[in-house]
Amino acid sequence: MKRLFSICLALMVAPILFAQTIQSPDGALELQFSLGDSIPQYQLRFKGKELIRPSRLGLELFDAPSLTGGFFAKNQQTNSFQESWNPVMGEVKTILNHYNELAITLRQPSTQREILVRFRLFNDGLGFRYEFPQQPNLNYFVIREEATQFALNGDHKAWWIAGDYDTEEYKYTTSNLSEVPALFDKSYEGNASQTIVPMALQTPLMLKRPDGVYLNIHEAALVGYSAMNVELDPKSFQLKAHLTPDAQGRKGYIQTPFHTPWRTIVVAEKAEQVLASKLILNLNEPSKIANTDWIKPVKYIGVWWQMFCPGQGSWSYTDIDNVRLGVTDYKKLTPNKTHGANNTNVKKYIDFAAKHGFDGVLVEGWNEGWEDWFGKSKEDVFDFVTPYPDFDVKMLTDYARSKGVRLIMHHETSGAATNYERWMDTAFRFMVNHGYNAVKTGYVGNIIPRGEHHYSQWMINHYNRVIQKAAQYGIMVNSHESVHPTGLHRTWPNAIAAEAARGTEYESFGGNNPDHTTILPFTRLMGGPMDYTPGIFQTRLDYYQPGDSRYVTSTLVKQLALYVTMYSPLQMAADMIENYERFPDAFQFIKDVAVDWDDTKILSAEPGDYITIARKAKGKEEWFVGGITDENPRVTTIDFSFLDADDYYVATIYEDGKNAHYITNPQQYNIYKVLVNKKSKLKQQLAASGGVAISLKKADKEELKKLKKLK
Ligand code: NOJ
Ligand code: CA
Repeated sequence: MKRLFSICLALMVAPILFAQTIQSPDGALELQFSLGDSIPQYQLRFKGKELIRPSRLGLELFDAPSLTGGFFAKNQQTNSFQESWNPVMGEVKTILNHYNELAITLRQPSTQREILVRFRLFNDGLGFRYEFPQQPNLNYFVIREEATQFALNGDHKAWWIAGDYDTEEYKYTTSNLSEVPALFDKSYEGNASQTIVPMALQTPLMLKRPDGVYLNIHEAALVGYSAMNVELDPKSFQLKAHLTPDAQGRKGYIQTPFHTPWRTIVVAEKAEQVLASKLILNLNEPSKIANTDWIKPVKYIGVWWQMFCPGQGSWSYTDIDNVRLGVTDYKKLTPNKTHGANNTNVKKYIDFAAKHGFDGVLVEGWNEGWEDWFGKSKEDVFDFVTPYPDFDVKMLTDYARSKGVRLIMHHETSGAATNYERWMDTAFRFMVNHGYNAVKTGYVGNIIPRGEHHYSQWMINHYNRVIQKAAQYGIMVNSHESVHPTGLHRTWPNAIAAEAARGTEYESFGGNNPDHTTILPFTRLMGGPMDYTPGIFQTRLDYYQPGDSRYVTSTLVKQLALYVTMYSPLQMAADMIENYERFPDAFQFIKDVAVDWDDTKILSAEPGDYITIARKAKGKEEWFVGGITDENPRVTTIDFSFLDADDYYVATIYEDGKNAHYITNPQQYNIYKVLVNKKSKLKQQLAASGGVAISLKKADKEELKKLKKLK
């Protein structure tokens, strides 16, 4: 009755010409599409509460009337869909894709144009997109801006980074949306990017309502379109799409038929459910790669972290400054003493990888160009096929093969995407000829073509071209400085991981906040796996000058736990060999931990505070648990009821030492073994920015006799 009354009231305020409602399969979410004054809007309710107030839909165009109003609903279709599918690699073996759909065809009589809005309502949230059928009056168009709104129902707590066209490598700020204006400038202080979008935030944007309901706003299947930030109106709490412009300020050149990426809103009463959501993956197309046998999880080490530790290594073969002084042929210069990608060092890494069961060795700084990096007035700094004189590619790839290890290629483009496209076929052929099957790409610096942005339509197309071309050559891609992932690894599973956030590298230049890795799974990782590069054991970076107190903002045990809490089928053990050799017992966890999974249980989580996850290794009766905390020490209770059999398991527990602390005592830890079964519960103390890591294997007879049971 009350409901009827409010609908009547609404009718009096704005005449609703058309309204249509669908519910999620479990009935908890309700999506309403309406046309008031011929303006298309949607709103979202959860268990009767309004989550998204009426919010506008549509697009504004260049040199053409807007597609934001003047519509009538020509046609509507509802549909229910349910399927299960198996990701090539993933957190779980089987994913349920279950939604109710509403598709509305909108006709604008004044221009004789039609668009379609498609909504998919899942139990864990909403996805919707615009579709543009081919038609005489809408053949080509240029986007001025997308008009989509997300009108939140009040002030929400947010975990956010400033909107930007070129970088996501920021520390997160936690605040209410109403506090964003006061904190906005401070949030990106010290970062070099010139392309901050005023009062806009990046997605995935993690939000918590005062009633405890979580919302997560992002996009899925970003193809042929520019990436989205959301502008905040801090008074009305309305968010609005803000697309990334190209060099001319245009936001997308479209030819019909076309559809936009999905706009996504994950809804959950518990933070754990946000991390378990598969909504973004479900909104992506199934794999376009028919035979995926060659796509494999990768655990790797690399000639890498030494470049981030002063005096330990360099990418360039010679001193870069000498080139700046005017010498054009770097080979005429004296090689520096720190070039990391030299035959001896790389062989040492191959040996270590073989000895400890790693799949790959990443080698950065192997090719010509680094010596000329700062001469970036030309775009062809790198050709991706010319090794430095001390890197014998044939000898090294043969040597790696003989040891059952692969080298991982590195293509730093220095942002020169046009140059990379010119060289790509040659570079991928070079890789295939030398037995490489994975490449780490990079886009440091301003993009060439000049004026383009890391997230503009041209670059989105570029990243997708790279993935598809790599697939033709049987190559897996781990891209850095690329756009926020949007679940495309379902469609192109060779897009094995990406950076697209502030990774471990920042621990060496400025540091990450202790809560950083408790936020990333709720933000950046919602779109796909991250190459965070955990595993730094030398947490106090005493390679710096005495007095320079740089440190990794985590205990050593937390570095272990990240292998479980930061999902990726590609994981690096990022530290230098000598640091692993100092802590062989802790290193054992990195050797053992799986990177591809049959099952995942989010045991406990709150963004910015803590995350505990248990995962079951692919095809094995082995589980791994990782728990992490922010700067606050805390006790976490791990309930082992996820263990599927009644059997006892040997739990090897890696815990922070009694006096461990991420600043004062990061390397103190204990390791012990104990028997657990599904009835066991472990009360575990975590240090400030500490963690716990556990491996679980079924106990044999001897272990059953020898080991104590956990009480
Ligand atoms: C930034 C990347 O994130 C890092 O991993 C890489 O080593 C450097 N660029 C150099 O390409
Ligand atoms: Ca980076």
